[in-house]
Amino acid sequence: MSNKYIPTIEDITAVSGIDTLPPGKLDITRRMAQLSDIKKGKKVLVTCSHRGYQAVIYAKECGAEVCGLDIDERMIEFARENSEKEKISINFVIGDAQEIPFGSEQFDIVTNEGAVGIPENPQKVLSEMVRVLKRDGILIFRESIFADNLSVEEKEELRLRYGNNIEDIKGWKERVDRAGAEVIFTETEPWLEPSNFWNVRHDREVRDYHDLYTMTEKLRLSKILMKKYGKDGITMAAENERIFYDAVKNKKIGYGIFLCKKINL
Ligand SMILES: C[S@@+](CC[C@H](N)C(=O)[O-])C[C@H]1O[C@@H](n2cnc3c(N)ncnc32)[C@H](O)[C@@H]1O
Repeated sequence: MSNKYIPTIEDITAVSGIDTLPPGKLDITRRMAQLSDIKKGKKVLVTCSHRGYQAVIYAKECGAEVCGLDIDERMIEFARENSEKEKISINFVIGDAQEIPFGSEQFDIVTNEGAVGIPENPQKVLSEMVRVLKRDGILIFRESIFADNLSVEEKEELRLRYGNNIEDIKGWKERVDRAGAEVIFTETEPWLEPSNFWNVRHDREVRDYHDLYTMTEKLRLSKILMKKYGKDGITMAAENERIFYDAVKNKKIGYGIFLCKKINL
């Protein structure tokens, strides 16, 4: 689909190359492990595993057998380095979450944090996550959600500026349903808290989205954006950040956890 709002928020994050953590600096990951009962003896697939933070927690803290899948070779390399540093064995595989390179019914738990909506076909991501689940398996994901009261037009504009095909809770439930699973529990508090979107640095607390990047990082990012998207791209990036983070501050967008079980026919 053509998008007149490029570079999106997800594009900016990706080109920045800056390592950020999930909401609550991994609190949400630990909560997901607790809700889905990730433990020794369980086989877990982390889709869109990024730098491997979730995979490391599930393997090191919970004792599960973990596999991570990401489409970006560099992320797989970072993830392998991270797991080596933590002295933990995890199988990181390059692949597309829309066509998971594993046979059906292999995993006890399949997870995704913040990236069901990034690939072109989020429905395919969910269907594939369900396909590789064992018959009594658990699907758990954390995604951005819209507040209930937004118009169709406002949602569409925010989706395009964000670069993420997000839904309200009802919309995510319908997608899970179509994928062959059922949402059995959702949790939105404390994950709706706006600061979850920017207080994600390893080394410091970030009190506002303006401070997510340091001055040096902002200068470097501007140069990268200029090279890749030109002057108009820089203007669009600033506009997208302002509109997207205003929506977050006004609680039009937050995060939610979806715990789901596979429906066996
Ligand atoms: C926003 S990050 C995910 C965040 C990560 N789960 C975390 O919380 O740290 C998006 C990740 O999804 C990966 N990704 C995007 N499209 C993908 C696809 N079609 N299949 C697999 N991974 C994909 C990107 O390479 C990137 O590592």
